[in-house]
Amino acid sequence: MTRAFPSSFEWGTATAAHQIEGQNWNNDWWEWEHRPGSGVAEPSGDACDSWDRWREDVALVRELGLNTYRFSIEWSRIEPEEGEWSHAAIDHYRRIGEALREDGIQPVVTFHHFTSPRWFAARGGWTVPDAPDVFARFCERAARELAPVLGRVCTINEPGVVAIMGYLMGVFPPGVSDEDAHRRATTTLCAAHRKAVDAIRAAAPGVPAGLTVSMTDYQPLEGGETKLDEIRALLEDVFLDATGGDDFVGVQSYSRARIGPDGWVGPEPGVPVLPLGYEYYPQALAATIRRAWEYTERAVPVLVTENGIGTDDDAQRIDYLKVALAGVADCLDEGIDVRGYTYWSLLDNFEWTFGYGPKFGLVEVDRTTFARRSKPSAKFFADVVRRNALP
Ligand code: GCO
Repeated sequence: MTRAFPSSFEWGTATAAHQIEGQNWNNDWWEWEHRPGSGVAEPSGDACDSWDRWREDVALVRELGLNTYRFSIEWSRIEPEEGEWSHAAIDHYRRIGEALREDGIQPVVTFHHFTSPRWFAARGGWTVPDAPDVFARFCERAARELAPVLGRVCTINEPGVVAIMGYLMGVFPPGVSDEDAHRRATTTLCAAHRKAVDAIRAAAPGVPAGLTVSMTDYQPLEGGETKLDEIRALLEDVFLDATGGDDFVGVQSYSRARIGPDGWVGPEPGVPVLPLGYEYYPQALAATIRRAWEYTERAVPVLVTENGIGTDDDAQRIDYLKVALAGVADCLDEGIDVRGYTYWSLLDNFEWTFGYGPKFGLVEVDRTTFARRSKPSAKFFADVVRRNALP
């Protein structure tokens, strides 16, 4: 028995500029990686050298047989100082888009993936009231110049993670731990998304625009329901609310979290724990797709913009993919409008505070020669894509 996907199904893999390009010294993350006490395992350095080796990355996407590739453009390269525009940098991304299109691959372009230019951070980052205007101005121009190549646009990657990690937990830049700052960042990021969508629609008419939301399969333990609602409202719902009127909602899901009366209770004994500290739980994907679909009143198509596993054990990655993709097929059977699936990530890359430890890639990257080598999971995924069905 095979489970077929719709003929229009969008198969992809994803990366983000700072995680793969290397030498992105003009953004807030680079500064954070080098700040003593920030807790980042190691600096991003050359990353995968994808700024130079992007053609190899495009070739890998083509070899996988994918029809989409999600990547991000680095704001700090395109607008290195406020109001200063780098034609060379935007051209670079246009060339990537053109190369993908020549291979029949639709570029899914993220305009902000965790990193902001240093000048933007210095003027107050996501807590100042005019941040949405400044971001929307960048989006307008970038969308206008990239319009011919854009397949879809994701405005801000996981604004909930930017807000909580940067402004409440203090583990992402700007390293703030303050409830009021967190609240302001949340509001500002939602407003920035809305303004960005308007700007992108005006500049690149017809290009679907949406938000990518970090979602977790929250499961209540006895007496944990109220706490669960509280946590989910703060981390998930406020951002799903901000997707009203969008062309799609990007679901990004990795695991579950069990919630008791006092909050997160940690992994269940017996369930494997992954390097990022959460459980191996591929069933989370179907649960979060269902929730995004219901929460947005079955009105907004769902695109899985990220799902994957950081592991040294590539056989575990294949098992994870089998369960996660079966979950997508279940959702399709239930009538949910799931447009596509994007595996995070194409390459082993810079995993933020964890440095180069966790391995999310379908493809391994040598840390000094940058040679790429496909793993067995890449072959597994390519086979599914070629058949457009699960075995
Ligand atoms: C995120 C980001 C990615 C991560 C991935 C694995 O979800 O945090 O979008 O940049 O690398 O999720 O943790």
